Amino acid sequence: MTRRRRLIIAMDGPAGVGKSTVGSLIARNLGYHFINTGEMYRALTWKALEEGLDLANEKAVVDLAKSLKWEFRPTEEGTLKTFIDGEGVSARIRDERVSANSSLIAANAGVRRFLCRLQRRLGARGGIVMEGRDITTHVFPDADYKIYLDASIEERARRRYRQLRAAGQSANYQRIKEAILTRDLNDLKRKINPLSQASDAIVIDSTHLTMHAVARRVLKMIEADGRPRLAGG
Ligand code: DC
Repeated sequence: MTRRRRLIIAMDGPAGVGKSTVGSLIARNLGYHFINTGEMYRALTWKALEEGLDLANEKAVVDLAKSLKWEFRPTEEGTLKTFIDGEGVSARIRDERVSANSSLIAANAGVRRFLCRLQRRLGARGGIVMEGRDITTHVFPDADYKIYLDASIEERARRRYRQLRAAGQSANYQRIKEAILTRDLNDLKRKINPLSQASDAIVIDSTHLTMHAVARRVLKMIEADGRPRLAGG
C-alpha cells in the first residue's frame, strides 16, 4: 500500500471551543487547506430559509441540497469557503436565525449522507485540517490525527462574550451560556452521528490554554512523530 503523504487532520468538539481558530492555525502552518464543515450545514440552513422551505420536511431539504452547485474556494490563507450556486455565503450564515435552525438540518439523515460525501471528496487527497462534530468518528475515522478539542462551558461562554464585546456588540453572558448549552445538547442527543469522543482521539482541554498554544501542541506532536509535513497543492 502506498502511504498517503499529506496528512488528514480531523478535529471535533462542542460549540464555541475554538476549533476553527485552532484548525486554521494548524492548516496555515502546514500549508494545508482548512475546512469548517459547520459552514456547510449553515449554508444549507440559510438557503432553505431563503427559499421558505419547511425545514422539518426532510426530503425537500435533501432535494434542495442536491440541486445546488457546491463549491469550496480557498482564501489566501488556505481556508476553504463555501459557495452555493456561485455565491459566497460565509459572511451571511453566522446569525442567530441560522444558528438556531441549523440543528434541525444537522439531524436530517439524508443531508448528513450528502454532506459527508462532499467532505470525504474534499479530503480524499490529504493535506487538510477538517473540523466539525463527526469528522473523527464518521467522516474520517482513519484520519492521521484525530483531535477532540474541549473546554468548560463557562470558558466557552466567556470567550464568546469577549468576542462580541470586542466587536462592539451587546452581549449577555447568561444568555450566551444557555445558547451554547442548547447547541451542545442538540449535537449530543442527535440520533445520527452525534458529537462524541472517538476512543482513539487525542483529547485537548483548552480551558486554560490559548488557541495558539493548542495549535502549537498539535504541531509539535506531528513534528515529534516525524510525519511528512508536505504542503498541500
Ligand atoms: O460548528 P457550527 O456551530 O458552525 O455548526 C453548525 C451546525 O452544524 C451545528 O448545528 C452543528 C452542526 N454540525 C454537524 O452536525 N456536524 C458537523 N460535522 C459540523 C457541524
